[in-house]
Order: sequence, then structure tokens, then C-alpha cells
Amino acid sequence: MKNTDDSYFSSKDELVYKKSGILKNIPKITDFEELQKFEDKATTLRLFEAQNFIKQNRIDFKLWKNIHRILFQDVYKWAGQVRKVQMSKGSTIFSHPQFIEKEAQKIFCKLSDENFLLNLNHDNFCYHLAHYHTELNALHPFREGNGRTLKLLLNELARRNGFYISWETNVDVDVYLDATIKAHNGPVANQLSEKSEPLIYKDSSSLKMIRNGDLRQNHNDEVKSLQKFFATIVKNA
Ligand SMILES: Nc1ncnc2c1ncn2[C@@H]1O[C@H](COP(=O)(O)OP(=O)(O)OP(=O)(O)O)[C@@H](O)[C@H]1O
Ligand SMILES: [Mg+2]
Repeated sequence: MKNTDDSYFSSKDELVYKKSGILKNIPKITDFEELQKFEDKATTLRLFEAQNFIKQNRIDFKLWKNIHRILFQDVYKWAGQVRKVQMSKGSTIFSHPQFIEKEAQKIFCKLSDENFLLNLNHDNFCYHLAHYHTELNALHPFREGNGRTLKLLLNELARRNGFYISWETNVDVDVYLDATIKAHNGPVANQLSEKSEPLIYKDSSSLKMIRNGDLRQNHNDEVKSLQKFFATIVKNA
């Protein structure tokens, strides 16, 4: 949804109403707050369906797209589809749309190679969760709804490993956002060559790490702040 921190590099974002600047939506709402309320209601009504679907499927990029499709199907026509415009929030520039599909496959392949984080103790699980959260947030595949759908995906990853993420309690949203931004600026910072928008995600240092299979050895202080955050909300189920 449109908010003051979002900016979109595409000069022609066909997904927004020109007049109000908010995302075009199925009920044709043109007021931002009204759309936000409708979005909350519509996605809440689809939550159970999404959670059931998640339980029955392999954790991969297709599942993430399906979660988005189920959750946002009553709100946006493009629900479940990868964005076509470049996006940023604050000083963070997310993956260039042209690389999303390919880089997503790499991240989920790595997760599969890592046995979907099976048999890790609490500390290690939180550490890996911080890394995958950072990679997947940097991907930001959808025009809207990345945070909510990523949380559902991570919840399922936790559930399958005997953990539970208590997003509802003990979460200081500012601490979470700070840690997310800090983590992003650690492993994926080198991608940002100021003028070369199309190369943004291709040369991500964290993706190089993933390719080389040494993600775990290349941990850094920045991601540790997100790991620390997860340590407070990931519980044994
Ligand atoms: N400056 C930033 N740098 C990196 N990541 C950010 C930044 N600001 C926000 N984020 C991440 O982006 C997510 C929001 O993305 P988006 O608006 O697509 O998702 P949402 O589901 O609509 O929102 P929310 O998670 O706030 O409910 C946040 O949950 C946060 O993890
Ligand atoms: Mg949003």
C-alpha cells in the first residue's frame, strides 16, 4: 500500500490511480485509509485458507506467490504475481524486477539444500531465519504485501521445525524494522552501485555467499541484530 516511505522508480506505474496515487484495487476504492481497512478485512478473511494451503505444500517461491494470491485475491488483480516495477523503501533498493524469479529460485534451492533448517537448535534456527528473512525481504517480489506474506512463510518454516514465531506479542515494531534495515545493509549492501539500477540484485554479496555455499561462515554483526530480535519471538512449539 502507498505510504510516505515508499518510492517507485518506474515513471509509469500502471498499478496506481493517477489522481490519488494509491494502488488500483478490485473494489475501486480511491481513498487510502478506506483501502487499508478493506485490505485488512479482506486478507483476514482469507487467512485461514492461506494457512491451510501453506501446510500442504512445499516451501518454495511458488508457495510464496500462492500465499500472496490467496490473501490478496479480493483486493488486487495482480495478487500472486511478481512486480514489474523497481521499488525502494527509505534508502533500501529492492531487487530489480528482472532478477526476482531467478534469484528467488537460488534462495529457495539453498533452503532446500539446507534441509529447510531441520534439526537446528534455537540459536542456530534464529540465525538462519535472520539470513533468509534478509534475503527474501531484499527480493521484495510483490508490489505490496511482502511483509505479511513473508511472515506466513517464515511461520510455516518455524512450525515444521518445532518452533513458533510470536509476532503478536513482545514485538517492538521499531526494533524489528531497525534490525531488518541493518541486516539488509550488511549482506546486501554491496549490491548498491548508485547509478546502475538494473544490476542491483545481480551482484548482491549475500547471493554470492549463497552460491558459494558459505552463507553460515559469512555471518556479520548486522544480521546478528535481526537474529537477536528473532531470539526474543521464536519459541519452542
Ligand atoms: N527501509 C527498509 N529497508 C528494508 N526493508 C524494509 C524497509 N522498510 C520496510 N521494510 C520491510 O518491508 C516490509 C513491508 O513491505 P510491504 O509494504 O510490501 O509489506 P506489507 O505486508 O504491505 O507491510 P507490513 O509488513 O508493514 O504489514 C516490512 O515488513 C519490512 O520488513
Ligand atoms: Mg505495505
